[in-house]
Amino acid sequence: MDEARHLSVLLDDVVDLLSVRPGGLYVDGTLGWGGHAAAVLARGGHVLGTDRDPDALAAARSRLGPEAELHHARFSELPALLRGRRADGILLDLGVSSPQLDRPERGFSFRLVGPLDMRMDPSGGEPASEWIARATAEELADVFFRYGEERQSRRVARAIVQHRTERPEEPLLTTRQLAELVARVLPADGRIHPATRVFQAIRIFVNDELGELDRALEALPGCLAPGGRLVVISFHSLEDRAVKQRFRHLAGEDAPRDLYGNPVTPPAFRLVERRARKGTADENPRARSARLRAIERVS
Ligand SMILES: C[S@@+](CC[C@H](N)C(=O)[O-])C[C@H]1O[C@@H](n2cnc3c(N)ncnc32)[C@H](O)[C@@H]1O
Repeated sequence: MDEARHLSVLLDDVVDLLSVRPGGLYVDGTLGWGGHAAAVLARGGHVLGTDRDPDALAAARSRLGPEAELHHARFSELPALLRGRRADGILLDLGVSSPQLDRPERGFSFRLVGPLDMRMDPSGGEPASEWIARATAEELADVFFRYGEERQSRRVARAIVQHRTERPEEPLLTTRQLAELVARVLPADGRIHPATRVFQAIRIFVNDELGELDRALEALPGCLAPGGRLVVISFHSLEDRAVKQRFRHLAGEDAPRDLYGNPVTPPAFRLVERRARKGTADENPRARSARLRAIERVS
């Protein structure tokens, strides 16, 4: 049932940009329910994939079958898993999947009642509720501002600390408790739920999503074979900014230039396209904010 519920974002664009050739090695760092990887397999590519979520990995395994080489791992661990093999294409489709969001027990959604957890890998790390129970007001506000771009971050942080002090018998353990607390302190603007940005921020923090992305952007381009492409789909501006800046750097856009305006050392990568491709809401509601960028290894 789950594979039908998660529609892969920008599927045709990914297939187009990876230009899969039979027998080539394609890495999917974010298998999810395996939609993109299935398209690669269907074109004769060999798939090596990771997901840090054991449920996603199990779903991908049953969809993709024994041909694909799948690992329960973070995508920053891919260079070690590749053991020197060079990939003809690498895909990162960042963030969480619809099945993760739709399962109340995972605690990602402020619309569903569940434990305040939000870990993509529940076998390790700290659930959101534990961090919320111990963080200082400054730490909370910093996370809400940095990862959620929440302008009222201090107000929300103060309300959480006040709740902890005044109601120690009612720790914030569920998504509903936190969503209601945020809704009490932040005015509704009618467009999005007032807790949207705070939930996004906590999820990014609990899973160290930007740290993971930075490490991957640093290491994965070097794992490509010449002609191979790294394709990244991001869902919010912090991720897209990191991808854009790193890709432009790799393509030599900030490199020293000679008198004729050419880079002094030819860059090893090129931008496949200058602009990001965008998802559309008619594809899938999640796709509306999707931005896809790709680089290619030239030497
Ligand atoms: C948007 S979904 C991917 C959907 C997939 N492309 C498909 O077609 O079904 C993102 C997936 O990436 C996983 N993920 C996110 N960050 C990760 C990381 N750093 N390492 C490994 N998996 C990660 C999540 O657990 C989730 O299953």
